[in-house]
Formats: sequence, structure tokens, C-alpha cells
Amino acid sequence: MTTLQLDPTQPDELAMAARLLQQGRLVAVPTETVYGLAADARNPDAVAGIFTAKGRPADHPLIVHLPSADAMADWAVDIPASAWQLAKAFWPGPLTLLLKKAPHVSPVITGGLPTIGLRVPAHPVLHQLLQQHQLAVAAPSANRYKKLSPTSAQQVLHTLDGRIDAVLDGGDCSYGLESTIVDATCEPLTIVRAGPIQASELSQMLGQPVLQPEQHQVKVAGNVRAHYQPNTPVIYTSFQAELPAQVGKAQQIAILHLGPVPKALRPIWQQQMPADAKAYGRKLYRALADADHAGADLIVLESPPEGEAWLAVWDRLKRASYQG
Ligand code: TXA
Ligand code: MG
Repeated sequence: MTTLQLDPTQPDELAMAARLLQQGRLVAVPTETVYGLAADARNPDAVAGIFTAKGRPADHPLIVHLPSADAMADWAVDIPASAWQLAKAFWPGPLTLLLKKAPHVSPVITGGLPTIGLRVPAHPVLHQLLQQHQLAVAAPSANRYKKLSPTSAQQVLHTLDGRIDAVLDGGDCSYGLESTIVDATCEPLTIVRAGPIQASELSQMLGQPVLQPEQHQVKVAGNVRAHYQPNTPVIYTSFQAELPAQVGKAQQIAILHLGPVPKALRPIWQQQMPADAKAYGRKLYRALADADHAGADLIVLESPPEGEAWLAVWDRLKRASYQG
């Protein structure tokens, strides 16, 4: 299969993306978080193709992307008032709500779960595609299973070229990390994946606490510990303390650093990361992908600061470096 590269600034190419989706084909689409691999959410056969293209286990649930908040009622039932409030305040945007699924929703989408993940994406290209053609698309991140999520069309092609029908090139993603996922089926609402929108912003908006568990909890298939991994092993460490033994054993090191690089390290490749959490998040996957191509046998990340603003970054670093 040849993967078409579509330019959404050409109206007929955007229309072509819509047509392919309506025909049950797979199209990678830009979102404000990361690129998604989309299929028509009303067509379970098309959605099943996503799992084959990614090499993803069939019990990992997918997020359905909607044109507007009103469409939430087409896919979910028993929607609590708090979910409507969050949708009004944060959509379109990088927030996914877990809700009780409507009876017609195929188990192919939800991995057999009684819940469904919904979001209205803010990227203007995808927003226009969904609005103009009244589409809803199921879309995981557009990468092979467990690998780094792509933040540009080139990165999508890096692992999925020839495995999908088209990629719609909407430029670089503005957040660069996946959406915050909130379980809205429980009280109090609970974050199940840290992302660009923080617990304090959600709590403030609702006027009631939204929980942010300290420890990563694997409650559903798909929310796994080893994820977002480059091919080269990754470790993180402070540059103020003694360096881990693994660093001494590595022959060739690639470094993502915030401050000065210790003289003893002698990296074959290095990149300065931004000191601001949002800017760091925007660059992280791209930097890990570049480090992966540097030919090192170890990628060393200088540990970023702690604190709420850095939770989403820390979550991805822990999963990128998890060995087990
Ligand atoms: O920003 C994002 O959320 C990106 C863009 C493309 O929208 N999508 C994304 O999808 O990150 P994916 O498939 O890589 O991650 C979705 C995760 C699943 O692995 C699972 O942990 C959780 O969302 N999820 C989805 N539906 C769920 C459900 N019904 N119940 C529990 N967790 C669910
Ligand atoms: Mg993913």
C-alpha cells in the first residue's frame, strides 16, 4: 500500500481525507497533542484495521474524536453534569473524558470495556474535517505499538509508511504530549493519564476536587508501564548527584539536558531542552526520536524539576525508561 501525503490547505485534499475515512480506510490526522491514526468510528471493520496497522493488542481501548461537545450524547449515556461542565470549559482541547458507553458503541472501539473515551480536538485541520463531514473518528496515537508518539507527519511515516492509506499533514503539534484523561464515571473525578491540562485547572473549574493519583496505576489494558519507547534504552538522572553505573558502562551516549553537561560524560550527541514545562513537553518526543537516530547505546535525560506542571513529562519519561 502506498501512503498518500495530503495537504489540508488544498480543499480537495481535505475532502479526499474525508472520502477515504468514509470508505473505511485509515488516515493519520494532526491533533493539537500528537498525530492520531483515524478510522470512521461508526465502522467497526475500519476501526479493527487500526489495531493491525499499529500492531496494537485488541483489548486496548481507543479514544473517539468528535466535531463538538453536543455529539457526546451520541456516544455516551448517564453523562454527569461535571462532564458537561468540563467539556464546555476545555473543548475543543487536550482533554479526554471517560464515560459510560452508549449501547450501540462497538466493543472494537472500547476494547470490550463498558466505558468510552471521548474528546473534541482543537487542531483546526481535524476540527474542520470532523465538522464539515459530520464525522467521528476513533484514533490512537499514530505510531507502532509502544513506540514514540509522532508530533509531525514525517514521524508518522517513519513507523507507519506503507501500512496506512494517507497522512494529512497539519504541521507540528502544539502540545506534543497526549491529552489528559479524566475518568468521569467515578466520584470524585480522577485523572488516569497526566497531560497538558492539570488537575488544579480541572478542580478550579468544577469547584470540587479532581484526583491526580501519585503513582501510575495500570487499571485498563493500554495504560501500560513500558510505553513511548525509543529503540535505544533511556535513563533519567540528576546531574548534581553521582551518575548511575549504567552511564559508565555505555560506549556512546546521547544526552537531553537542561543545565551544563558533566565533563565526564562526553556524549556523541546532545540537545538542550527548554526550562519551561510546556515547551519541554512540546519537544520531548521529537528529541527522543532524534536521540534514537544518533547511534548511541544509551540515552541519558537530565531529570526535570518536580511539580504539577511537570507531571505529564514525568509520566512519559518513566514509561520511556521503564525496563521490565
Ligand atoms: O491526545 C491524545 O489523547 C491522542 C490523540 C490522537 O487524540 N490519542 C491517544 O490515544 O493518546 P492512545 O490510544 O495512544 O491512548 C489512549 C488511551 C488508552 O491506551 C487507554 O489507556 C485510555 O486512553 N482509554 C481510552 N478509552 C478508554 C476507556 N474506555 N477506558 C479506560 N481507558 C481508556
Ligand atoms: Mg498511544
